[in-house]
Amino acid sequence: MRGSVEHSWGWGHCAPSPLLLLTLLLFAAPFGLLGEKTRQVSLEVIPNWLGPVQNLLHIRAVGTNSTLHYMWSSLGPLAVVLVATNTPHSTLSVNWSRLLSPEPDGGLIVLPKDSIQFSSALVFTRLLEFDSTNVSDTAAKPPGTPYPPYSLADFSWNNITDSLDPATLSATFQGHPMNDPTRTFANGSLAFRVQAFSRSSRPAQPPRLLHTADTCQLEVALVGASPRGNRSLFGLEVATLGQGPDCPSMQEQHSIDDEYAPAVFQSPIVRAFFGSQNNFCAFNLTFGASTGPGYWDQHYLSWSMLLGVGFPPVDGLSPLVLGIMAVALGAPGLMLLVGGLVLLLYHKKYSEYQSIN
Ligand SMILES: *[C@@H]1O[C@H](CO)[C@@H](O)[C@H](O)[C@H]1NC(C)=O
Ligand SMILES: *[C@@H]1O[C@H](CO)[C@@H](O)[C@H](O)[C@H]1NC(C)=O
Ligand SMILES: *[C@@H]1O[C@H](CO)[C@@H](O)[C@H](O)[C@H]1NC(C)=O
Ligand SMILES: *[C@@H]1O[C@H](CO)[C@@H](O)[C@H](O)[C@H]1NC(C)=O
Ligand SMILES: *[C@@H]1O[C@H](CO)[C@@H](O)[C@H](O)[C@H]1NC(C)=O
Ligand SMILES: *[C@@H]1O[C@H](CO)[C@@H](O)[C@H](O)[C@H]1NC(C)=O
Ligand SMILES: *[C@@H]1O[C@H](CO)[C@@H](O)[C@H](O)[C@H]1NC(C)=O
Repeated sequence: MRGSVEHSWGWGHCAPSPLLLLTLLLFAAPFGLLGEKTRQVSLEVIPNWLGPVQNLLHIRAVGTNSTLHYMWSSLGPLAVVLVATNTPHSTLSVNWSRLLSPEPDGGLIVLPKDSIQFSSALVFTRLLEFDSTNVSDTAAKPPGTPYPPYSLADFSWNNITDSLDPATLSATFQGHPMNDPTRTFANGSLAFRVQAFSRSSRPAQPPRLLHTADTCQLEVALVGASPRGNRSLFGLEVATLGQGPDCPSMQEQHSIDDEYAPAVFQSPIVRAFFGSQNNFCAFNLTFGASTGPGYWDQHYLSWSMLLGVGFPPVDGLSPLVLGIMAVALGAPGLMLLVGGLVLLLYHKKYSEYQSIN
């Protein structure tokens, strides 16, 4: 039970721009699943009748010949399992007693099993903070001296049911560290707003990533937390499943920390679906540069991501998008499109947007 290869992919410090975008195309998925124009989308919080309330959100997006299942959970670090099937009739089955047990394998099942064409997962493991005070090189990696990271497995989260909005097909996981001795999150939170779509459109808010019925949008916002230095840059560490022994090729590779790997596997929903025999690949997403603008300006930072199956819908990108990179492995697969926005010009717009939620 250990990850094999680790990838680090820091961004933002490569250009003093407020907005960066990167695209990862990971792993292979069948072409046949792609391009459904519309899907019937439903969001459902799966209740645990047996014990403590745990957030498990199931998004089911049904097309003519396929279904996309997204299972989001804050059980352990925030994680999503994405499963694509070749039938409009596939269903999710959850065994809570197994899911919450030390051996959660099989606690999450998509049926019928032979309809599954593709599956993968993303785990948001840690919120990173760097002191970039003396970093003049905007391409430096890491972009400063790291502060101790906030482990998202040690966050306490809101009740996802209260944030469920069937009208916008969205829900928000909002959390803060359970133990916060220095009270950096006394007035702050880290929020993951998940939104599904029944057809293609482009949101009004920057970075206006075009989304389709094959994607889910994720907006991660750090709001109001006290930075630990005057020039703090933030990042997110994300882990994904490797297929076979290797991780997809990216810019850098390091070997994964042995002590780090088990923490990733303690995400129960990933283990529940995939079992314990998996390789994880991790990468860091960091945005901003010591030269600013930065979190210190408004105490607001957000990352926008699209997650789905297939090629990223990159046509007609917002002119604000300054950088784009794709790693294609020959076939469309799990798609993660990330736009980072250090809020300065858009702060007002976003704060209005936030207050709606
Ligand atoms: C992400 O950054 C943190 C802090 O610098 C570092 O400890 C960790 O190894 C990095 N993770 C990856 C996958 O590079
Ligand atoms: C669905 O499957 C049927 C039969 O295999 C095929 O004729 C049809 O073109 C498919 N529809 C889509 C949208 O892929
Ligand atoms: C759920 O899992 C438990 C423990 O593995 C098992 O005993 C039980 O039969 C399962 N329940 C269902 C409905 O499959
Ligand atoms: C930054 O550099 C100055 C001058 O070298 C030094 O006095 C200061 O302690 C450094 N600050 C940090 C946070 O490293
Ligand atoms: C979560 O919210 C739902 C709906 O408001 C409520 O039924 C449920 O009891 C809540 N759970 C907890 C632990 O507060
Ligand atoms: C939190 O906000 C209150 C009211 O604005 C303020 O008095 C307090 O100092 C803040 N605490 C922290 C840790 O920032
Ligand atoms: C932050 O900036 C203030 C004012 O410029 C300065 O007094 C303080 O020492 C700085 N703190 C750190 C940790 O650099």
